[in-house]
Amino acid sequence: MDKKEILKILEDWNFWAKEVDTGIKRDFYLNKLKKLLLSKQIIAITGARRVGKSFLMRQLAQELIKQGVSKNQILIINFEDPRFSDLNLKLLQKIYETYLEFIQPKGKIYIFLDEIQEVEKWEKWVLMAQELKKAQIILSGSNAKLLSQELATLLTGRHLDLKIYPLSFEEFLKFHNVIIKNNLDLIRNEIKVKSLLKSYIENGSFPEVVLRENKKEILLAYFNDVLEKDLIKRYKIRKPEKFKDILKFYYSNTASLITFNSLEKIFKISADTIEKFSSYFTLNYLLFFVKRFSYKIKEQEKSPRKVYAVDTGMANTIGFKFSENKGKLAENIVFAQLLRQMSQNFNMETYYWKDEKHWEVDFVIKEKNFIKKLIQVCFDLSDANTKAREIKPLIKASKELKCDNLLIITDDFEHEEKISSKKIKYIPLWKWLLEN
Ligand SMILES: Nc1ncnc2c1ncn2[C@@H]1O[C@H](COP(=O)(O)OP(=O)(O)O)[C@@H](O)[C@H]1O
Ligand SMILES: [Mg+2]
Repeated sequence: MDKKEILKILEDWNFWAKEVDTGIKRDFYLNKLKKLLLSKQIIAITGARRVGKSFLMRQLAQELIKQGVSKNQILIINFEDPRFSDLNLKLLQKIYETYLEFIQPKGKIYIFLDEIQEVEKWEKWVLMAQELKKAQIILSGSNAKLLSQELATLLTGRHLDLKIYPLSFEEFLKFHNVIIKNNLDLIRNEIKVKSLLKSYIENGSFPEVVLRENKKEILLAYFNDVLEKDLIKRYKIRKPEKFKDILKFYYSNTASLITFNSLEKIFKISADTIEKFSSYFTLNYLLFFVKRFSYKIKEQEKSPRKVYAVDTGMANTIGFKFSENKGKLAENIVFAQLLRQMSQNFNMETYYWKDEKHWEVDFVIKEKNFIKKLIQVCFDLSDANTKAREIKPLIKASKELKCDNLLIITDDFEHEEKISSKKIKYIPLWKWLLEN
């Protein structure tokens, strides 16, 4: 590729001479990024495909420009642009030289490398650029080549990580022009918020899905894209049909207990292979497995896992039907929110609890060596039996784990009560999501 061709591509993605679409601001992540920038480390933005990484990068660039950085001091390279052929170190260096030659930036330079994993041995160039203080580097990636562990080895502790998730409920409301800043806003918008929660649960919160009408179509396209490009091709899967069926199975069974051994029987593939496949799903941010809480590590490891999807829209499109499983999807929504909290608080861990009588508590929140909170998600409290089924395990776990912070997340019931001298708080899901 010659420099003229390169420049032409760069001009399409940069602010130098044109307006760039930056979408709706995601202040939460922007503020995080601004703080990370102060560290002068390499910043890595990771997350599922289509979760909004590229848009966020552009928003950060725009923010820098607002703060007085000149447009010429910012270089955005989108390695997914199909016009780049033969992506390698040489080309990366040539792109950089083209930028210097034609744009002639003065002062500190910010380089955004979007979907950097497309460039072989990219880490060499990034480390060199950072070492020689050529630029502040912000990079993004959505798949296995850019996993945290791998990044840590490649960049030898010289980077900071920011994980991006589909829209939180607060962001989701903002995408619908509902801004909640305080309790009064909440009271004023309560009916609207409740009705939006339905769509949040049913369709999930990938930004594009939220903004567009043909939601199922978009989600199906995302699913096929990840499956083909990030998984089957990259991991050289030899039985793609089975692989796909396993992923579908997980999506149909979110918030349920599974063991790799039981899947071995269903799919007639060894438990080891199932476990390996499952790790690919996790590494690509599609699914998460929650372990049973136990003080004994061995028991924890051999107990069944509870599986959750990164996005309920995805689970609902690929897996089961919404109407039949609202409670499970709501539980998945709670898990996704806990995931966001865990990414803010590295001491926080999430488990489920289950005893020999099969009494269950949905979430055990642990911080350092303490059990901080026990959470049940229950969307149908109308029937006394259901209510007892939720409360009994909560009380038992509370005694066993010495934790008095007990929460039941409901569809729309708010209350506080004392049972066996333990205080239980009931809170509607929409309220809990906005509280956090
Ligand atoms: N902040 C945002 N405001 C509006 N739309 C967005 C925003 N973030 C993402 N989108 C929509 O979602 C799509 C995917 O976002 P993108 O940033 O390209 O994801 P990623 O880079 O993580 O794959 C975009 O094409 C756009 O339609
Ligand atoms: Mg992108």
